[in-house]
Amino acid sequence: MLNIAVLVSGSGSNLQAIIDEMKKGEINGKIVTVVSNKPDVYALKRAEDNNIPTKVIVSKGNNDFDKELLSHLKELKVDLIVLAGFLCILKGDILKEYSNKIINVHPSLIPSFCGDGFYGLKVHEAALNYGVKVTGATVHFVNEITDGGKIIIQKAVYIKEGDTPEILQRRVMEEAEWKILPQAVKMICNGGL
Ligand code: GAR
Repeated sequence: MLNIAVLVSGSGSNLQAIIDEMKKGEINGKIVTVVSNKPDVYALKRAEDNNIPTKVIVSKGNNDFDKELLSHLKELKVDLIVLAGFLCILKGDILKEYSNKIINVHPSLIPSFCGDGFYGLKVHEAALNYGVKVTGATVHFVNEITDGGKIIIQKAVYIKEGDTPEILQRRVMEEAEWKILPQAVKMICNGGL
């Protein structure tokens, strides 16, 4: 059984999708901690509601953020780190110690609309401004290149007439992110990758 840490920065709807999938009892893993780099985000409430221990390590102005995070994860013997709407770039030893053991969900079809500065609504704004007709989401391994690690799963989502960044964000979550992130966690935990 893998010990999983889910890292969050916001509403935690992707965390919820993983929790819901785990409740089906088919994933050989357990979420042992939910870590947020911001206090008071809704993702922490979702974790608490599901009796999952939480930890806040504030990233802003904190040069020791990566060190503190690594020591917390090692203490809990975490095997797999899942970035679920975690809007902070990981650096340093954690990337080496957890090489091929950190996954991220990104709200576009990488290599489009990804890399530094592309996160949250900005990704969907960029897709709409470019005028692409298809977007989607990607789950990938995390390495030292932002959104540059090996791709695990992608799912396409059609853009519709009248889409705003908010409408598109919601559709990409519903049709892609909430499906492929739990699916990737399941594949890794159950040895299918
Ligand atoms: C999600 O759309 C996720 O893909 C995105 O932030 C949102 C978080 O929502 N992440 C990135 O943009 C990372 N580059 P959530 O807190 O409800 O899961």
